[in-house]
Amino acid sequence: MSGHAGWQSWRSFSSDSSVTKKKLAPGTLRRIVRFAAPYKRDLIVFLTLVVIDAVIGTLNPLIFREIINKGIIGKRVGLIEVLALFIAGLAILAAALSLVQRFFSARVGEGLIYDMRSKVYEQVQRMPIAFFTRTQTGALITRLNNDVLGAQQAFTGTLSNVVSNLISVTLVLITMFVLSWQITLVALLILPVFVLPARYMGRRLQTITRESYALNAEMNTTMTERFNVAGALLVKLFGRPGEEGRRFRDRAGRVRDIGITSAMYSRIFFVSLMLTASLATAVVYGWGGVLAARGALDVGTVVALTAYLNRLYGPLTALSNVQVDVMTSLVSFERVFEVLDLPPMITDRPDARPLPADARTIEFDDVHFSYPTAEEVSLASLESVAVLDPTPSQQVLHGVSFRAEPGQLVALVGPSGAGKTTISSLVPRLYDATAGAVRIGGYDVRDVTMDSLRDAIGVVTQDAHMFHETVRANLLYARPDATDAELWDALRGGQINELVASLPDGLDTMVGERGYRLSGGEKQRLAIARLLLKQPAIVILDEATAHLDSESEVAVQRALKQALDGRTSLVIAHRLSTIRDADLILVIDGGRVVESGRHEDLQAQDGLYAELYRTQFQRQETLETVAD
Ligand SMILES: Nc1ncnc2c1ncn2[C@@H]1O[C@H](COP(=O)(O)OP(=O)(O)OP(=O)(O)O)[C@@H](O)[C@H]1O
Ligand SMILES: [Mg+2]
Repeated sequence: MSGHAGWQSWRSFSSDSSVTKKKLAPGTLRRIVRFAAPYKRDLIVFLTLVVIDAVIGTLNPLIFREIINKGIIGKRVGLIEVLALFIAGLAILAAALSLVQRFFSARVGEGLIYDMRSKVYEQVQRMPIAFFTRTQTGALITRLNNDVLGAQQAFTGTLSNVVSNLISVTLVLITMFVLSWQITLVALLILPVFVLPARYMGRRLQTITRESYALNAEMNTTMTERFNVAGALLVKLFGRPGEEGRRFRDRAGRVRDIGITSAMYSRIFFVSLMLTASLATAVVYGWGGVLAARGALDVGTVVALTAYLNRLYGPLTALSNVQVDVMTSLVSFERVFEVLDLPPMITDRPDARPLPADARTIEFDDVHFSYPTAEEVSLASLESVAVLDPTPSQQVLHGVSFRAEPGQLVALVGPSGAGKTTISSLVPRLYDATAGAVRIGGYDVRDVTMDSLRDAIGVVTQDAHMFHETVRANLLYARPDATDAELWDALRGGQINELVASLPDGLDTMVGERGYRLSGGEKQRLAIARLLLKQPAIVILDEATAHLDSESEVAVQRALKQALDGRTSLVIAHRLSTIRDADLILVIDGGRVVESGRHEDLQAQDGLYAELYRTQFQRQETLETVAD
């Protein structure tokens, strides 16, 4: 029991005391209460058990006293037997209660974790794509995990400790004062001898703990960066395992050193706590023993007093630092709330209506756009900076206007960084235009529901991401109710059916991060199959920049023809040969449409398009001559 309290107080001494200076946002407490409301009954049972446990603990030394004074000294064997049995009974009761207590605390704690996790997950999913481009995934996940756990600690850890320690200390002190106020006073006087140095040492310990977290994080980052496929590939290709090993040893070495320091500090803490209790025991035995020998105090009381000492120092030390514990938990709660409060920048308007199924024209009307600033989409506490960079970002699109009629293929071409991907991401509302409007079938995309918008638009992105799941699951993501026959139809349309059929488990082969490795072209074709399954009215295609070999290029081309047939499509093409037949070609440069027209018109204009085409064509020819 006192060991537990000792550990608890050590933990609170090593946590960051600067949290107590932090001001909580108004209403935080009320929100915490609301979060805990569903667990009110469990919490009451739990706290009642904590109180009973503390009372039983305080009762024991009093029974020792009776056994010694009335039983042993009074030579009443019967009473000794009864009291011993009573102690045994209490011990069994305490053991049973502690199991029940743990059950309730686990139920409340894990329940809270569950509630907060699901809420946070849903909230993060609602965040605009800009949030994810700003936030490091690893940092976000770690932070949320830690904060959710920290907030949970507030209930099962801090709350029960505070309640149990308060009750224990109060009961123990009252009983001790009644037994002998002089000895109790001396025992209390010894306490500052321990608590004051402990406070001083606690500050040192905080610095060490913080440092060790940082060092550990650094070491983990090295590992996660080097041990994923891309990182491992770089290490292999640039082949400096010796230096990598040295750098890692250096980091691991610092973790080792700080581990030793921190172990020593925590041992010093425990040893001084134990030493204080032992010294006090010596005082109580010494002085109490003298008093007992003189007949001023009975033997049982001396024994009871020393037993109480063990239940006094741990809880008192923990209570002396209680505000740090409470604040640490509250701040965790607040950080979770901070994420829950992030306004999702892109949501349905209150009066949003579904996009009619026949809406198929795409229209850009003098669209200006700049990417949102960190301040608008992110949280300082997630980017490990004190203040988010408020400088407005550069404008990327400067008045883009064009129109794609139903069923037309509109191609976007232009140099890298011109703004092609940006234009395409405004249609499914990954971002909203800063000025001007994007309309589908005459409806401003901001006036229709996100769900209907997503149903109407199919996108194949530059990297054609697949989840680490089966081919089937990846395809069904587009249309959960599709039958196997429909899946194969889509695969045939994507020109990828033969490959899937030849895979060891066919549709049930795992693909994605750690599954079967699809080549760039194969992934694009699978993404096209996924799109075919969805049957959207509008298709956006960001052609992979990675070079496909000519065979898979032909396959992708054929797949595309099928995918785009009869649909309004926006195709970002890097290979100009693929869009020669486009109904409209928009040449984008520096965030503006600088030329537009059909292939022949643009060739005749002899502008940027003609130049791009010439350079590509020449390169193509040189490549072919080299190949010959
Ligand atoms: N998430 C972002 N935040 C801030 N700026 C961005 C972001 N994404 C792109 N940009 C900037 O916007 C400009 C246009 O980028 P975009 O991705 O639209 O180019 P692109 O024409 O698709 O190029 P590429 O042909 O290389 O794919 C670039 O200057 C780029 O640096
Ligand atoms: Mg791009």
